[in-house]
Amino acid sequence: MIRRSILLGTGSALPARMVSNQELAQTVDTSDEWIVERTGIRNRHIAGEGETTATLAADAGRAAMDAAGLSLQDIGLIIVATATPDQTFPSTATKVQAMLGIDDCIAFDVAAVCSGFLYAVTVADSMIRSGAAERALVIGAETFSRILDWEDRTTCVLFGDGAGAIVLGAEESEEGKRGILASKLHADGRHNQLLYVDGGPSTTQTVGKLRMKGQEVFRHAVVNLASVLNEVMEQAGLSAADIDWLVPHQANARILDATARKLKLSPDRVVVTVDRHANTSAASVPLALDLATRDGRIKPGDLVVLEAMGGGFTWGACVLRL
Ligand code: UT7
Repeated sequence: MIRRSILLGTGSALPARMVSNQELAQTVDTSDEWIVERTGIRNRHIAGEGETTATLAADAGRAAMDAAGLSLQDIGLIIVATATPDQTFPSTATKVQAMLGIDDCIAFDVAAVCSGFLYAVTVADSMIRSGAAERALVIGAETFSRILDWEDRTTCVLFGDGAGAIVLGAEESEEGKRGILASKLHADGRHNQLLYVDGGPSTTQTVGKLRMKGQEVFRHAVVNLASVLNEVMEQAGLSAADIDWLVPHQANARILDATARKLKLSPDRVVVTVDRHANTSAASVPLALDLATRDGRIKPGDLVVLEAMGGGFTWGACVLRL
């Protein structure tokens, strides 16, 4: 018998307020034309009063649990991937646990910035396959608007807030043909200064603001993503031609195009949400997965590949059959 983690449901949550490029251009020295041409972004959601990473995460988690048709007490593990927790501690995962009214489970956060969801899914999958958990709620949730320097046009136009969630459950079968088939993670800490936050509890005792050397991150992203996608497909014993849907991290439409070209994957096999959500860091992959599942594009039996790259650098990919 093969024990695998299968996808039982997806959910997402976005702040009520949507901000267009035109609206941003009223306060920042930028234009709709520049943002659309260089990034593909048209809108983003920005958290308002009372909306935090934990409230968005809990809403996304609840929606994923509803989609899975499970009761909240069925969850044995919550992992929240975030770089913008409500508090330094306790973890956002334990806040989500309390908000959802789950009496007892394992709950912790994963910090891998934009690849956080890939890291969280891989850890949850390992814990499910080892028997440490039967069902897991895996969430990517961020409020990057709160760590942006709103005077820096090179970064503040790129990001948005939101949360996405999935429920994974254990399944034992003879063939083990569905569920998470392979995943691969990487990190290279030498690139800290290309994408980072210039503060923290143990250094400045402040939260800090996001800083990025965009062009250099772009170059690394295209190379690293193509390479990890080839690695993970090989690990699964499959080729790019087998992919029904690529659900990538949504940083820049040009990165999505370049990755699809390198894989020789038709652009209409790629789920794109960067136009409406901008870059929501760890939330972007589960947000896109939820959208394409709910609108009927992703169907049972499809081969879906998730990928992301972000600060650290960290990057990773995951192959799953629905
Ligand atoms: O999620 C983690 C991973 N993150 C990423 O993958 C982000 C990767 N990087 C990128 O997506 C792109 O590099 C950016 C979108 C950040 C920037 O695009 P670019 O084509 O690399 O632009 P650039 O940085 O080379 O800037 C080109 C010009 C500069 O002006 P000069 O020096 O040529 O006169 C910038 O000052 O565009 C200017 N510029 C802007 N102009 C209007 C930069 N930001 C803006 C802006 N509005 N918001």
